[in-house]
Amino acid sequence: MNTEPVYQVRGVTKKYGNVLALDGVDFAVAAGEVVGLVGDNGAGKSTLVKVLSGAHRPDQGEMLLDGAPVQWHSPQEALESGIETLYQDSSLAPDLTVSANVFLGREEVVPGLWGKLGFLANRRMDDVARQELEKVGIAVPSSTRTVSRLSGGQRQAVAIGRAAAWASKVIILDEPTNHLGARQSAEVLEVIKQARAKGLAVVFISHTLPHVLEVTDRIVVLRLGRVSVDAPTSTFTPDSLVKAITGLSGAA
Ligand SMILES: Nc1ncnc2c1ncn2[C@@H]1O[C@H](COP(=O)(O)OP(=O)(O)O)[C@@H](O)[C@H]1O
Ligand SMILES: [Mg+2]
Repeated sequence: MNTEPVYQVRGVTKKYGNVLALDGVDFAVAAGEVVGLVGDNGAGKSTLVKVLSGAHRPDQGEMLLDGAPVQWHSPQEALESGIETLYQDSSLAPDLTVSANVFLGREEVVPGLWGKLGFLANRRMDDVARQELEKVGIAVPSSTRTVSRLSGGQRQAVAIGRAAAWASKVIILDEPTNHLGARQSAEVLEVIKQARAKGLAVVFISHTLPHVLEVTDRIVVLRLGRVSVDAPTSTFTPDSLVKAITGLSGAA
């Protein structure tokens, strides 16, 4: 992609004690682009996600949002700058309704909006939640239904939909199709495509390589804390992607 990246890190290094989890990593994602982040266990994917989401500060390296240097002191700061992260086990509140979950925790992030919504009837909030989810292609049976009554796929779709609804720039998804069946995964992949169509920059972490090949525009392979390949998805075959991840032979 020739577009200027909306979010990028350069030369990022992160150590845990003696373990060099990230070693001079360059990573970038543009608006309207889905980048797949793949690699074996221990390659550094989760560590990079934590750096991108503001949960960890890198030991070295720079981070740029819209071309301007940024430093996060907390995940909250990244959130406020439009970067949403969905961790592997999404944090929906099972006993609350879908719409309450969509607005959960937003009191501090968007005080203005929350203030406005505070005047609104629950019914209106349900409508807003449903509209936001529909924008990213999620049709929930009823936004007044409690999350515990949804299927696993529907829950994951709501969690992603919530992140995509609130993200203004970047959405980072760590293994969002894990534990989902084929049809449910297809729904989640559809949500990712909708988020891209909305102009969001999407980072998609997955071990399910067919999903990565289906939904991404570019793939970044991490090996032992370093970027081993960064190339357009169209240049990979299922075989060459496996080889790039395992390092068994030539890259894409
Ligand atoms: N909190 C931690 N303390 C010590 N070592 C860690 C910690 N988190 C990750 N590591 C190590 O850092 C490396 C990268 O891990 P991680 O980012 O979780 O990789 P991945 O998500 O690709 O499986 C691994 O060697 C892992 O054991
Ligand atoms: Mg991990």
